[in-house]
Amino acid sequence: MLPEDLLESLRKRVAESEHPRELLIDVLLELQGHCGYVNDEAMEAACGLFDMTPLEIDELATFYDFIYREPVGKHVIHVCDSAICWMNGYGSVLDHLTARLGIRFGETTPDGLFTLLPACCIGYCDRSPAMMVDRRVYGGLTPEKIDRILEKCRNGRRPDDMDETER
Ligand code: FES
Repeated sequence: MLPEDLLESLRKRVAESEHPRELLIDVLLELQGHCGYVNDEAMEAACGLFDMTPLEIDELATFYDFIYREPVGKHVIHVCDSAICWMNGYGSVLDHLTARLGIRFGETTPDGLFTLLPACCIGYCDRSPAMMVDRRVYGGLTPEKIDRILEKCRNGRRPDDMDETER
């Protein structure tokens, strides 16, 4: 159940905004942060806040790679499949991740630790191939670097514990 203080703070933000619908993605991310994904309860809350139907919200949310409408793993890996990364090794990054994790795009590992998803350009073209783990971007990916990132996640550390030079 969504906590009343969260709903109240969202209601306040929406009510105070001149253009409330501009807050939709932020609000969905906040609800997702609480629920793990935008489940039916979160969707119902968003519909109430914005006076929109689930279909209208879905139409907007599905344009945004980082809104999840289904449960995801503890760590969500978005692999950039846009042109520059594609030219610079996206294929081998994806092959390595799928081999290491035993899952394909759209799937979650049986232990619930990792979900693998594609993403459009994540703004790290100059360090391609790149991927994002839990909203942190990593570039210059090699099999060894990917393994280090996965290992940190498996050891219960967030990959952003990595040294700055690792990104
Ligand atoms: S094309 Fe991959 S980060 Fe831009």
